[in-house]
Amino acid sequence: MNDAEPDLAALVAIAERAARTAGALIRDERPDRVEVATTKTSPQDVVTAMDLAAETSLRETLGAARPDDAILGEEQGLTPGTSGITWVIDPIDGTVNYLYGWPPGYAVLVAAVSTPPGVEPDPATWTVLAACVHSGDGQTWTATRGGGAFRDGRRLELGEPPALPLCLVGTGFGYRREVRELQGRVVARLLPQVRDLRRVGSAGLDLCAVAEGRLDLFYEQGLKPWDMAAGSLIATEAGAQVSGLRGSPAGQAMTVVGHPQRVGELIALLEQAGADEQV
Ligand code: IPD
Repeated sequence: MNDAEPDLAALVAIAERAARTAGALIRDERPDRVEVATTKTSPQDVVTAMDLAAETSLRETLGAARPDDAILGEEQGLTPGTSGITWVIDPIDGTVNYLYGWPPGYAVLVAAVSTPPGVEPDPATWTVLAACVHSGDGQTWTATRGGGAFRDGRRLELGEPPALPLCLVGTGFGYRREVRELQGRVVARLLPQVRDLRRVGSAGLDLCAVAEGRLDLFYEQGLKPWDMAAGSLIATEAGAQVSGLRGSPAGQAMTVVGHPQRVGELIALLEQAGADEQV
């Protein structure tokens, strides 16, 4: 059964409750020395016991509140549902920052998306309805579709963007060696053309930074659905454009975010640099 008119205020309240509960868990129970539980695509792509515990916590809160919804999580994959709504969750975005004990650089990401019937959750086809990002140092960003974006209750709206050479641009790097080699080449092309680059280590927080004007633009190749679901709504609701290259929607091939007056210029540079090459 599809949820024809989802209650967005209720969804964002559930998202925030789930993110805050998991956020308290990873803050309060972070051991002095965080051990790597396992690795994924490379030795740098780590999972800690707290990633797994935080995803379990998110699933418990969301499942209790909305038992008919699907859940897609970074660590435990897709649990199907029947409502047409999927919770897309990243229990610790910025796991390397968590490993090293840097709370402003990691966050719990929770988004509710609606998907067409029979289609798996995919940024190209989903509609993000509600989102919450809760950082390790206790800041909380929320958004509902059409209802605006907020940081700790304060409405966020993009101001006029500077010219591209004065733009502060955020990016991130994947974990696989071949991807990093390409990303390094793209950085070499881009860096001389902008004010500077920042690599925070959490794509979710990068997108909130665009929403707040702490970054003018952001791009990254290789983002997974859970890295971008929550932050993309927060950025969009603050007035940003979220796009891919060559007319495609944002997704794993490329995600570009920023003021609509500047996104096109960054897209052109990234296309020239072949930043979406598949490696
Ligand atoms: C990572 C972060 C990072 C981005 C990587 C992501 P994780 O997520 O968002 O900023 O550059 O591409 O995989 O692994 O910390 O959940």
